[in-house]
Amino acid sequence: MLLEQTGTTTAYQLGDNLILRFATEDDIEVLAQFNGRIHGSPFVARWTREFASPAHPTCGPDNVTVVEDTATKQIVSSMCLIPQTWTFDGIPFPVGRPEAVGTDPAYRRRGLVRAQFDVLHAKSDAAGHLAQGITGIPWYYRQFGYEYAIDLDGGRCVSPSLIAPLKDGETETYRFRLVTLDDLPLVMELYDRDCARSLVACPRSAAEWKRSMFDASPQSVAYQALHVIETCEGRAVGVIRTSRELSWREMFPVRLFSVVEGQSLRALLPATLRWLKAEAELVAAAQQKPLPTLHFELGEQHPIFEAAPEAFHKTTPSYAWYMRVADVPKFLNHVGPVLERRLAQSALSGFSGEVKVTECVRGFKLKIEQGKISAEPWLSDDHADAMFAPYTFLQLLFGRRSLGDLRYMYPDCWAQDETAAVFETLFPRRHSQVVPIG
Ligand SMILES: CC(C)(COP(=O)(O)OP(=O)(O)OC[C@H]1O[C@@H](n2cnc3c(N)ncnc32)[C@H](O)[C@@H]1OP(=O)(O)O)[C@@H](O)C(=O)NCCC(=O)NCCS
Repeated sequence: MLLEQTGTTTAYQLGDNLILRFATEDDIEVLAQFNGRIHGSPFVARWTREFASPAHPTCGPDNVTVVEDTATKQIVSSMCLIPQTWTFDGIPFPVGRPEAVGTDPAYRRRGLVRAQFDVLHAKSDAAGHLAQGITGIPWYYRQFGYEYAIDLDGGRCVSPSLIAPLKDGETETYRFRLVTLDDLPLVMELYDRDCARSLVACPRSAAEWKRSMFDASPQSVAYQALHVIETCEGRAVGVIRTSRELSWREMFPVRLFSVVEGQSLRALLPATLRWLKAEAELVAAAQQKPLPTLHFELGEQHPIFEAAPEAFHKTTPSYAWYMRVADVPKFLNHVGPVLERRLAQSALSGFSGEVKVTECVRGFKLKIEQGKISAEPWLSDDHADAMFAPYTFLQLLFGRRSLGDLRYMYPDCWAQDETAAVFETLFPRRHSQVVPIG
């Protein structure tokens, strides 16, 4: 949709009395109610008051778009973009996170979200964001240049009926309490250790932890419900993060489960399961739902899955983050040191050569000279060394799938032998768990 900016205002005319503009502080309450209604969740309403507020550290009204029907003065569609920094094998990169995407039923399928994506992508690209990532409804965001590229929400389940109660005469040897500000160093240390295991991660500053644990409303999507696990003598041995609401899978999620060095995760599990069952009961009762399955929503890999595989009765496959990378060569150059390290530590160490890659609608050239890597745009009808269907390369880049996986999945993905060896080396499969800033 072609957008026309009117006069000196930042409103875009969309026709039919509709204008697209950025939100103001005056919109916040109306927008919170709109989002609460459209998304059917009081948690989203609360969250809207937080992310649209000028007090939010990165979002605020300037990163929220609304479409207004000037005939009725009603907001009829909205979304936002939450800027944040993620890491790629330790290298920070700026990201825009679109969220709270919704249109009033009477105004759907008229391109209102598409128009807002055009505006927010331009804003995000101009702000220097190297990628955008959204967790969202199936298929829809593919239309806006996104590809499912980073694992999300997968893990393993424990049925509450399988959780053994304490035997007669036994007492718990661990207890659980809400975090306090004094626990911040412990929380940060354990979370940072988890981030280091993850190819893509979202590090959090002390201020961000404080905001999500203490300043955010417990009824907000941004709230992080953390508990410290301690021995009966009061020695902190770990942290666990759950939720105040059931997940979209209707399960009770565990989103962080980490212990200090010297503490066995396996030894902690029975008491943790009993405590989680009681917490799940409370949350489900508040939502008038039956006792849910516990979901260790910790991705495909987590130390507890190795330490106590028999405790989990079922594996849930990952859903995925939709990722958009508008300028792939720029992203590759940004994470060049990671790629160079992978190459240097491989059997291809010292490799020199040029690899031309087509993604059909765009492409890039990788130049490798004595292990130094640089990328530049390349799009030509000339012979390419590797081909990917549009945007599927992002699955490889972010470690969700290997080149072999992609070649198995897509007949239109191929690579010359030498290129295949280079790409298997530069882009191995790697686990990621991204806990975004909300
Ligand atoms: C999903 C939703 C945001 C779409 O809003 P919308 O204003 O109708 O979206 P748009 O018209 O801009 O959609 C862009 C394109 O997607 C199509 N589209 C709209 N809804 C779609 C859907 N549910 N599934 C697939 N395609 C859809 C449109 O026809 C349009 O295609 P076109 O540009 O080729 O004509 C809206 O249905 C909604 O608010 N749903 C409830 C809340 C929700 O689920 N939000 C997403 C949370 S992640």
